[in-house]
Amino acid sequence: MKKLSLLILLSTFLFCLACSEGELETPQPTTPPTTNDPMDDDDDDQSDDMDGDAVTYTNSVSTILASNCNSCHNGANPSGGLSLDSYTAAKNGTQNGNVLSRIRDVNNPMPQAGLMSEDNIKAIEDWAEGGFLE
Ligand code: HEC
Repeated sequence: MKKLSLLILLSTFLFCLACSEGELETPQPTTPPTTNDPMDDDDDDQSDDMDGDAVTYTNSVSTILASNCNSCHNGANPSGGLSLDSYTAAKNGTQNGNVLSRIRDVNNPMPQAGLMSEDNIKAIEDWAEGGFLE
């Protein structure tokens, strides 16, 4: 009798283990609906494209010039006779001068202390290619 009741207890125990294991696995396949994802992706793509296409003097170039160039290239008597402290001055200097070559010139770099980060150089190049947006 004792053996039998032990056996019943044991099998009930094992049965319950199996039950709870099954219950643990069931929630996994029910993933939340994905209907929102395509909309999110569209929004992200649009903002990425806009960021990539619209390098302007105001949103990017002015900040880069201010922190890397304007300490020398500003005012009435700028270094190298090149002023870069306004939209018109920066546009003219980049269009007609050597800005695009000097910001990549390893032997004669601008700024003199060393070339800027690739991101900053690329931003000024993109600004020129995009037609010097203000
Ligand atoms: C520490 C001062 C200093 C900083 C900062 C500086 N420059 Fe200059 N820059 C000079 C001096 C001095 C000259 C003239 C001597 C020469 O050409 O190397 C010059 C010359 C130039 C010229 C050549 C002008 C010409 O027509 O002959 C360009 C283009 C130029 N700089 C661009 C820049 C740009 C763009 C930056 C920022 C990314 C910058 N510079 C940062 C001091 C500076």
